[in-house]
Amino acid sequence: MTTQATPVPARPAPPPVARFILLTGASGGIGRATAARLADAGHLVFAGARRAGELKALAAAHPGIRPVVLDVTDQAAIDHARHQITDQTGGHGLDVLINAAGILVLGPVEAVSDPQTRAQFEVNLFGTLAVTRAFLAPMRQRGAGRIVNVSSILGRFALPGSGIYAASKFALEAASDALRLELAPFGVQVVLVEPGVIATPLYARAAAALPDDQALGPYRASWPAGFGFPERLLRAAASVDTIAATLAEAALVPCPRARYRPGLRNRLNTRLLTALPTRSADRIKIRIVGVATSPALAPPSPDGTGPQAAAPQHQPGERRRQGARQ
Ligand SMILES: NC(=O)c1ccc[n+]([C@@H]2O[C@H](COP(=O)([O-])OP(=O)(O)OC[C@H]3O[C@@H](n4cnc5c(N)ncnc54)[C@H](OP(=O)(O)O)[C@@H]3O)[C@@H](O)[C@H]2O)c1
Repeated sequence: MTTQATPVPARPAPPPVARFILLTGASGGIGRATAARLADAGHLVFAGARRAGELKALAAAHPGIRPVVLDVTDQAAIDHARHQITDQTGGHGLDVLINAAGILVLGPVEAVSDPQTRAQFEVNLFGTLAVTRAFLAPMRQRGAGRIVNVSSILGRFALPGSGIYAASKFALEAASDALRLELAPFGVQVVLVEPGVIATPLYARAAAALPDDQALGPYRASWPAGFGFPERLLRAAASVDTIAATLAEAALVPCPRARYRPGLRNRLNTRLLTALPTRSADRIKIRIVGVATSPALAPPSPDGTGPQAAAPQHQPGERRRQGARQ
């Protein structure tokens, strides 16, 4: 005689636990899409940025969003945001902090002024660290919490024309790698997300703030495509929804990876450009940006000691041998 097994009714998935999340950069392309996704999934999202009007519109469309007017370079504004969030979470503080505020400064390294260089680091590095410090203590004391830092594939390799931006993201990667190990004993997780090119206003803002003509002048001959972010990369930009999905995953999954780099092409390019010998990687980067390397392109200086006059004459193959030594 055979007994028929009674089918076990499928158990409904447990409802996701609502989290308290602060997302900086919430008025921008990536931040807005991520805040909307997290709020629509039932979490309480404190949306931080400087433009109050943008945040108000976002909150009006998504009931789970609370605007927090916040300049990440202003310690008083960060302290005010901390008080506001502590009050609104009944003293609990944050479960997740997503640091997405960022700016992009474009231009050859020499042409980017000292104030622009500092501004790049003020937002992308010092601002991110200041916000992180402000919200860490309750997470550490509870033994739970998560910091998600939005870096970039340019936090893994640098291209001509965005070297200062890459420097700020390299620094953010280094600080995050150390922080992840420092906070692990306290049960606080640190996650890096490294987007490729995403279609957002970041690039138009950067193009509008390019260094002045005088600073760019000497580079014009060798940058025929101009100093904007490479067109061919912008044409292949991914949508904000793809990166918002990755950020939501990094913020919410029980065991997050240390790094998320969405997009097969981004993963392959990063692997290639960080593994190849420098000279080979440089050749690819030059093609991506469309910048010339021949000293003949730079005009000779009036006294005849400019690059044309000073450029060494290479025998065929000599350049390659020199490169192999680097
Ligand atoms: N788009 C891409 O292809 C790409 C690729 C890799 C990484 N990323 C990174 O992703 C993040 C978001 O970029 P996005 O593309 O969404 O750029 P975006 O559309 O220009 O948004 C930038 C956000 O940062 C905020 N922000 C800038 N300065 C701030 C400050 N001092 N204090 C507070 N908030 C500030 C802006 O808000 P307010 O102006 O209202 O303050 C805005 O919400 C950045 O960290 C960026 O480096 C972007």
